[in-house]
Amino acid sequence: MENDLGNYRKSYEKGALLLKDTPENPMELFQKWFYEIDAHFPKDETNAMTLSTIGLDGFPKSRVVLLKKYTFEGFIFYTNYNSEKGNAIESNPNVCLSFFWHGAERQIIIKGKAEKILENLSDGYFESRPRGSQLSALISNQSQQIESRKELEKKLADLDKKFEGKEIPRPDFWGGYIVKPTEIEFWQGRANRLHDRIDYKLDESYNWIKTRLSP
Ligand SMILES: Cc1cc2nc3c(=O)[nH]c(=O)nc-3n(C[C@H](O)[C@H](O)[C@H](O)COP(=O)(O)O)c2cc1C
Repeated sequence: MENDLGNYRKSYEKGALLLKDTPENPMELFQKWFYEIDAHFPKDETNAMTLSTIGLDGFPKSRVVLLKKYTFEGFIFYTNYNSEKGNAIESNPNVCLSFFWHGAERQIIIKGKAEKILENLSDGYFESRPRGSQLSALISNQSQQIESRKELEKKLADLDKKFEGKEIPRPDFWGGYIVKPTEIEFWQGRANRLHDRIDYKLDESYNWIKTRLSP
C-alpha cells in the first residue's frame, strides 16, 4: 500500500502570539485560549486532551482523556487508577498533556507531574456523573483483556439491578489525577510555517520564565 500525502498542505493564518501580549502566568493564557476555543469552535471538543505517559514497557503511550477542571495548580482528569496509564503514572509521574484546537490553529503542550487528587474530590465528581457512567466505571477493569462485549453488557445489567434505587459508591480504583505543570508551550500556526511558539518554564524558585522558541 502507498498513499503519498505530500500534497496535504494547509496555511495557518488565523492568529498571532506575541511575547508582549502574554501574561506572566501561563494558566491565565490557558484560560484565555480555552474560553476563546469554547466560544468560537465548540466542535473542537475543547476539553479533549492527549495524555502521554512512559509505560512499564519503556514505551511512551498517548491517549485522549477529558480535562474536567483546571486551576492555577494544574489540570485534572479522571480515570481508572489500575489502567495502563494508572500503572505508568505510578512508576513514573512525569507526563505530557497536549491540546490541538484545529479551528483556531493552536496547540498547547504541557509537561508536568501527575498525582492523585484527594479522595473527597474524586467522590464529589463521581457523584455528579450520570448513573450509566458511574456503573461503567465500576464494571470496567480498564485496559484488561476481556472475552467479549456481551460479558461487559451482562456485568452492567447485573450491577444496574443490584443498585436499583440505591446510590452507587465510587470504587477506590477510580478517581482523579492532577497534572502540575513544569513547562507549558503555546503554539499558534502562522503563514509560511513561521509559527509562534511561546514557552513557559518553572525555575527553581517556582517563577515562570517565558521565552520564544523557533518554529
Ligand atoms: C474523546 C475521548 C475522551 C476520553 N476520555 C477519557 C477520560 O476522561 N478518562 C479515561 O480514562 N479515558 C478516556 N478516554 C479513553 C482513553 O483514550 C483510553 O482508551 C482509556 O483511558 C484506556 O487507556 P489506557 O489503557 O492507556 O490506560 C477517552 C477517549 C476519547 C477518544
